[in-house]
Amino acid sequence: MARRSGTPYDFDTPVERRDTGSLKWDRYKGRDIIPLWVADMDFKAPPAVINAMRKRVGHGVFGYTLPPQDLVDEVLAVLEREHSWKAEPNWIVWLPGLVTGINVACRSVGEPGDAVITTIPAYPPFLSAPVLSGRTLTAVAHIEQCSGYAFDFEGIEQAFTERTKMFLLCNPQNPTGRVFTASELQRLAEICLSRGAVICSDEIHCGLVLDPDARHVSLAALDKDVAQKTITLLAPSKTYNLPGLGCSFAVIPDKGLRSRFRHVMEGIVPHVNTLGYTAALAAYRDSEDWRIELTGYLRQNRDLVENFVKQAPGICMRHVEATYLAWIDCRELSLENPAAFFEDFGTGLSSGADFGMPGFVRLNFGCPRSILAEGLNRMEKAVDTCFS
Ligand SMILES: Cc1ncc(COP(=O)(O)O)c(C=O)c1O
Repeated sequence: MARRSGTPYDFDTPVERRDTGSLKWDRYKGRDIIPLWVADMDFKAPPAVINAMRKRVGHGVFGYTLPPQDLVDEVLAVLEREHSWKAEPNWIVWLPGLVTGINVACRSVGEPGDAVITTIPAYPPFLSAPVLSGRTLTAVAHIEQCSGYAFDFEGIEQAFTERTKMFLLCNPQNPTGRVFTASELQRLAEICLSRGAVICSDEIHCGLVLDPDARHVSLAALDKDVAQKTITLLAPSKTYNLPGLGCSFAVIPDKGLRSRFRHVMEGIVPHVNTLGYTAALAAYRDSEDWRIELTGYLRQNRDLVENFVKQAPGICMRHVEATYLAWIDCRELSLENPAAFFEDFGTGLSSGADFGMPGFVRLNFGCPRSILAEGLNRMEKAVDTCFS
């Protein structure tokens, strides 16, 4: 496919990922199935990241590495510039991954037997981390509105008990693609604070807002009281497509909460690796134009998916404001396992059951448009068989 004119970045040309140890592609090794499941994109990392890593590799020594001061400064600058949040350097806790961060957060608040609330559909580790941490989980379903998925505030209030110590929030939301507004977040925060609960706010997708009129609001930036009760989880990995490099971080303003979080990590959670730090710095500091091009490309992919779903019989979806994920409702097709059904027709999707909602599938449109179009073609053939 030809490179689009006017952009130095090529998102159109497919990169061969077979036999590179890719989790996404190797799931279907030797089978003609287009992988549109796990949340990594089929694009090369920004050129600035690749160049910085080449330089770092050229140095040749890969010893234990401290977080580079430049990276700390850049993260603080991004939080202030993009999130209007003035954070302090010692609030940052570096992590080799955010699934780790979610699990550490669950263990660092309250005691075994306490309760965690989250909303469904949810990124699967939100459902497993509380249980793995010896906590009970209460899942409150989002309300489906014309404009998208909304919080069921009454349901959330009713879900609180004496033992509820934490609310797990995902914003922008995986898998629905919602970007929650300041007033939605304010109301959620008020409920949680009035019950004394800590909020773990996973904002890993915040760099992937697609709608020009939507703006990511960082929960902790709402006000100081909210910040003191919040563990914010962030990483460059989704936005800049670096999930295999393992560099992420928590921002925890409250000293006590931060020291409990660090204590849970002690001796178990490894340091971030040298190349992860290098890539993170080049991503945040030197790749903003790439990110803007990327979100433009993803917006068009999103439109392709939404238009396809609109005309396909038996499936529907709400508008995706952010992320490269589409949450598709297949309940009208009355299939036992929609993901397995589409897989049989050659498109590999994530099963809604893993997100707490059987009957749905999640589609990852972070790939060259030609690959996406072929994946959608196969889905079209699949749904047609349900009505022929
Ligand atoms: C909301 C959310 N949190 C965390 C992660 C994964 O983080 P990591 O790969 O750093 O463990 C993902 C990956 O898709 C995600 O969507």
